[in-house]
Amino acid sequence: PRLWLIVPAAGIGQRMQAEQPKQYLRIGQRFILDITLSRLMDSAPFSGCMVPLHPADHWWPDTEASGDSRIQTCTGGAERAESVLSALHALAEQIRDDDWVLVHDAARPCLHTRDLSNLIDQLYHHPVGGLLASPVADTLKRAGTGDLPEVLETVDRKNLWRALTPQMFRYRILVDSLEAALAGELLVTDESSAVEFSGNMPVLVEGRPDNIKITVPADLALAGFILSRF
Ligand code: C5P
Repeated sequence: PRLWLIVPAAGIGQRMQAEQPKQYLRIGQRFILDITLSRLMDSAPFSGCMVPLHPADHWWPDTEASGDSRIQTCTGGAERAESVLSALHALAEQIRDDDWVLVHDAARPCLHTRDLSNLIDQLYHHPVGGLLASPVADTLKRAGTGDLPEVLETVDRKNLWRALTPQMFRYRILVDSLEAALAGELLVTDESSAVEFSGNMPVLVEGRPDNIKITVPADLALAGFILSRF
């Protein structure tokens, strides 16, 4: 099977409180999206890469990636799952059912090459696929709502993991799972949750906890620091 890459970049990054979506913020001189894409494309033999963009995106032409003939773009959707599905549909002509699709957040520039190759090596012969994940380090509380929510219980963190990306699935399983999840209006915040809903069991490959998703302003400085130590 061949390897394909999807990097959803159609989000508007509401939680960053910035002018532009977070994937178009810069660390040093470069767009986060360019750091992410070059790291991935230089580290594994992808047959192609699809980047879903927001319909009103006008930053893409300014990226380094826009000059890379291996990378194509398509129009994303209102939800992350719709963006990924639109990219999968855009690949339909070239891809085979048992080919691998890796989906990686544009906003995760701190992926280590070793984690990427480890994910691919560990899953390459698996029938379904899986994802990078990191064991939960903090004590977890379930709480009510409001400004000062009351603790309802402490959740046992044994066997609890943070889902990271890349997430790597067989093409047919991923398309069918996402279509079913969207049709059923299920809550899908990552590819794995859709695959789980379809009755398949993804596996976890332990990855580095510093593969952070840039979400709030403080994450930007943290990502810059992590990248400076690569
Ligand atoms: O908003 P969140 O941090 O979960 O976004 C994760 C990734 O999914 C980001 O790279 C974002 O650009 C992408 N996304 C997308 N289409 C959406 C929402 C998010 O491609 N409608």
